[in-house]
Amino acid sequence: MGNFLAGKVVAVTGAGRGIGRAVALAAAAEGARVVVNDYGVSIEGSEPTSAVAEAVVKEIVAAGGEAVAVADDVSTMAGGQRVVDTAVEVYGRIDGVVCVAGILRERMLFNMSEEEWDPVVATHLKGTFTVFRAASALMRRQKSGTLIGFTSGNHQGSVSQANYSAAKGGIISLVRSAALGMHKYGVTANAVAPVARTRMSANVPMELAEIGEPEDVAALVVYLLSDRAREARITGQVYTVAGPRIAVWAQPRELRSAFAEGSWTPERIAEVLPGSVGVDPMPMLERVEAMARAAAAGGRPNA
Ligand SMILES: NC(=O)c1ccc[n+]([C@@H]2O[C@H](COP(=O)([O-])OP(=O)(O)OC[C@H]3O[C@@H](n4cnc5c(N)ncnc54)[C@H](O)[C@@H]3O)[C@@H](O)[C@H]2O)c1
Repeated sequence: MGNFLAGKVVAVTGAGRGIGRAVALAAAAEGARVVVNDYGVSIEGSEPTSAVAEAVVKEIVAAGGEAVAVADDVSTMAGGQRVVDTAVEVYGRIDGVVCVAGILRERMLFNMSEEEWDPVVATHLKGTFTVFRAASALMRRQKSGTLIGFTSGNHQGSVSQANYSAAKGGIISLVRSAALGMHKYGVTANAVAPVARTRMSANVPMELAEIGEPEDVAALVVYLLSDRAREARITGQVYTVAGPRIAVWAQPRELRSAFAEGSWTPERIAEVLPGSVGVDPMPMLERVEAMARAAAAGGRPNA
């Protein structure tokens, strides 16, 4: 065992499988005491079982670490609160929360039902809020702590997962808001966009050109939870981790502007906007067009 997180108490949601499990195991191996949360559901979010979280706790304990299971649904306020309360009740404190829990319900926008939209947004976006909300109240008082959300490259947009993409975009804004609002209390907030082999990524209908293992993602999360990341003043950031590659995303910013002489009219905007403010080409749209061309030529598209 290392000691990157010695003395810390960390809660990880969605920690029963895939990336969350790797984060929980790595955090425990680095000396953290870990709350392992997992609702134990299918990819679509059905058939919950507490066995999934309990199995990871057994793995951590067998490796000489300390962990406790919470099988609650983090899309409820009570579930998010329970994750944080358990850390305090069992270990006396909370130093970091990592919100990894997620589900998928894929459907084209024009066919998507409320039952496909609501649970996806609730699990990812509200499920990050419920845990951040409970943890930030304690972290504000103790004047330290780390909040980590999980987003996706798909926050840029998705052909057939508008629900997931919207939730992942929302998580980035939630993380940035947490970074801003909690800054004066010494609390950091960052987001991770992983690409790793799990049951979720196995469902992607294309070849992923760049993919790593959950353990690659866990290494970045352990660093972000550590004092080393706090000393480097890392907050409000979005990092991609795909196998050996780590990248930081740009902060959103305006590119170009134009000013009206007097007031804008639609006619004046039509004259001025295309040649001045213009557009920012959408990389995802170019990729979608390239995939359509590849599919038309009979190939399997790459992403
Ligand atoms: N795997 C990738 O390449 C990839 C890419 C981009 C983003 N992500 C994101 O990373 C995170 C982890 O993904 P993964 O690939 O490990 O998925 P996974 O399906 O292997 O694990 C997700 C876990 O979350 C749990 N969960 C679902 N709903 C829950 C709820 N309401 N409360 C508590 N737990 C719940 C599930 O039971 C499951 O164990 C997700 O947020 C996902 O969107 C993954």
